[in-house]
Amino acid sequence: MDVYEAVKSRRAVRRFIDRDIPKDVLERVLLAATWAPSGSNIQPWNTYVVTGAPLAELKKRAGKRVVAGDPWDEREYEMYPPAMKSPYRERRSAFGHERYSALGIADGDWEASQRAASANWDCFGAPAALFCYIDRDLGLAQWADVGMYLQTIMLLLRGEGLHSCTQMAWSVYRKTVAEILSPREGLILFCGMSIGYEDVTAPYIRTGRAPLNETVTFVDSTSQRSAQIARGDSLLGV
Ligand SMILES: Cc1cc2nc3c(=O)[nH]c(=O)nc-3n(C[C@H](O)[C@H](O)[C@H](O)COP(=O)(O)O)c2cc1C
Repeated sequence: MDVYEAVKSRRAVRRFIDRDIPKDVLERVLLAATWAPSGSNIQPWNTYVVTGAPLAELKKRAGKRVVAGDPWDEREYEMYPPAMKSPYRERRSAFGHERYSALGIADGDWEASQRAASANWDCFGAPAALFCYIDRDLGLAQWADVGMYLQTIMLLLRGEGLHSCTQMAWSVYRKTVAEILSPREGLILFCGMSIGYEDVTAPYIRTGRAPLNETVTFVDSTSQRSAQIARGDSLLGV
């Protein structure tokens, strides 16, 4: 699979079939992902991969908390700013519409969307999950490093015919995750990631993307000239 195909075919898959992933496949992916870049090569990721009985136990414990309506664990980081400004607010509601209308859930049907979201804590049926932690005292740039690492994993998974779904949702049950993983002291759980073979019968709508000119600005001699012309600057003198 070429890089473009891997990037384009990666998407958040939210239903997996019950088929185990050979351990050597997961090891191959995680070994290759160690080549992800990071500032000063500090490799600030701490990854736990869970399968089999420990994963079943995690799903069971998390599921119990969901059913009991347990309060979420207190936040260790803000997933989103409390008031999201434009254009992020609109993009977020467009995503909500895409995600839930694919499941036949009407906009604003909070209960039905919560029920669908609760599949997060069953890892959408995936046979493997990965949990990525970062040291509490590292900064924003290292969190960005972790993002690059996770995307590297997701692309490599595509190369193995596997799909994934990154899940910040796990951070709200981080104490249950910690009961199973016993992470070392000083770590914050950034997210989980469900990994498996896609259930191709599951309905979904491919999420859209903002047009390129909303998020990318090319600054080259052509664009500078256009700006100068628009401002009325002298092309010779400036
Ligand atoms: C850091 C991060 C956390 C995410 N957390 C969740 C989550 O908790 N549950 C979920 O269903 N999807 C989650 N997603 C998936 C996003 O909703 C998804 O990537 C986005 O809507 C774009 O869609 P696509 O990945 O299918 O292209 C997360 C993605 C990222 C990158």
